[in-house]
Amino acid sequence: MRITMIGSGYVGLVSGVCFADFGHDVICVDNDVSKIEALKMGAIPIFEPGLEQLVADNVRSGRLSFSTAVEECVEASDVVFIAVGTPSRRGDGHADLSYVYAVAREIAMHIKGFTVVVTKSTVPVGTGDEVERIIRETNPEADVAVVSNPEFLREGAAIEDFKRPDRIVIGLDDDRAREVMTEVYRPLYLNQAPLLFTSRRTSELIKYAANAFLAMKITFINEMADLCEKVGANVQEVSRGIGLDGRIGSKFLHAGPGYGGSCFPKDALALAKTAQDYDSPVRLIETTISINDNRKRAMGRKVVAAVGGDVRGKTIAVLGLTFKPNTDDMRDSPAISVIQALQDAGASIVGYDPEGMENAAKVIDDISYADDAYGAAQGADAVVIVTEWNQFRALDFLRLKSVMKTPVLVDLRNIYRREEVVRHGFDYTSIGRPTETGKAAKRA
Ligand code: UDX
Repeated sequence: MRITMIGSGYVGLVSGVCFADFGHDVICVDNDVSKIEALKMGAIPIFEPGLEQLVADNVRSGRLSFSTAVEECVEASDVVFIAVGTPSRRGDGHADLSYVYAVAREIAMHIKGFTVVVTKSTVPVGTGDEVERIIRETNPEADVAVVSNPEFLREGAAIEDFKRPDRIVIGLDDDRAREVMTEVYRPLYLNQAPLLFTSRRTSELIKYAANAFLAMKITFINEMADLCEKVGANVQEVSRGIGLDGRIGSKFLHAGPGYGGSCFPKDALALAKTAQDYDSPVRLIETTISINDNRKRAMGRKVVAAVGGDVRGKTIAVLGLTFKPNTDDMRDSPAISVIQALQDAGASIVGYDPEGMENAAKVIDDISYADDAYGAAQGADAVVIVTEWNQFRALDFLRLKSVMKTPVLVDLRNIYRREEVVRHGFDYTSIGRPTETGKAAKRA
């Protein structure tokens, strides 16, 4: 299959290189000339484990190339994927579809022969209908089928997720397109990954429903964690206790500082907005969104309390800035709100992140950075773990304590065992786990 991937951002690049790795001929297109020039030189614009090598291998094999010339690529393609961004629209929280529609307009005139146009971008229900309308209006001659094929990639594990998906969702109503999409995913199909064919609107909704459900699951366990703290129970045991029930499942039950990232916050909001438009509000998701927004800042207050109620003039070391490990992505990272809340309370912040400091500098003001965890902790009144990078799991507690001003450790990801940290002389606060005394907080 000859595939054009329009949009060489996170989703487009990972999907494009993986399709090439399946044996298809793939051209990744972007209108950012410098990005395409850099990709041609082998420079990958994002940090994603395994991506650089996979790009290099597939470029070498001749199956993957990069271009800014939409016309030529589209003309020569059997399948054109649209993988451009759909950010939250400023002001109303709806998904901004202007990039998707601009691509539809741009490709329409260049479609030659039967071509399947696939939206991979996360788009609200009905977007496929509009993409089809735009293409047919712009080029009534175009022999085209418009398909929805959402992605379920997690940053940091995207290649693995692409190659070993739980399912592939394809929304269409055209038999020829069904054959083409089956061919596109044949290697995975042969590996027993279920191909779920649905209507286009159903497929569009599945993506939002999946992300919203996961956001809700995380938010549920976060609220349980707060309750655990009040009643003297252990949220990790609650997670295990409920997760072993196959109807609930053990994944996405790690309590933490609130979900962030490029998908959950924006997609949950867009779903809530779409549902309101259709006069069918999704109140569980509306509530999830507001709980999660409040939680991120509340984590800042949790740190203030751990330091004794007043951080004015104090220095707090924040370890982990990205919204999760193994990425350099700062979008909607809980660290932003935690740091802001601490700064508002009068603290100075020293941050450290293995990959995210360059992006952090673009979204967080007035913080300084260290070269490693111990550098950040130097002279600090508290260390806060916001993102659970593996290297923080193996910190040398003696060394950490020796460089700090006061040994206060706030672990917003529950990566340590209380006994061990306390044994090293730290005052330790985590999420939803009993204190040393195991006593419940007094009832209000
Ligand atoms: C998510 C979806 O998982 C993926 O299927 C979709 O296509 C894109 O959005 P991603 O944003 O990369 O992927 O990250 P994910 O691993 O899902 O984590 C999202 C956020 O939830 C992170 O901030 C993470 O720390 C948080 N999280 C996740 C928890 O707090 N607890 C959990 O148990 C799981």
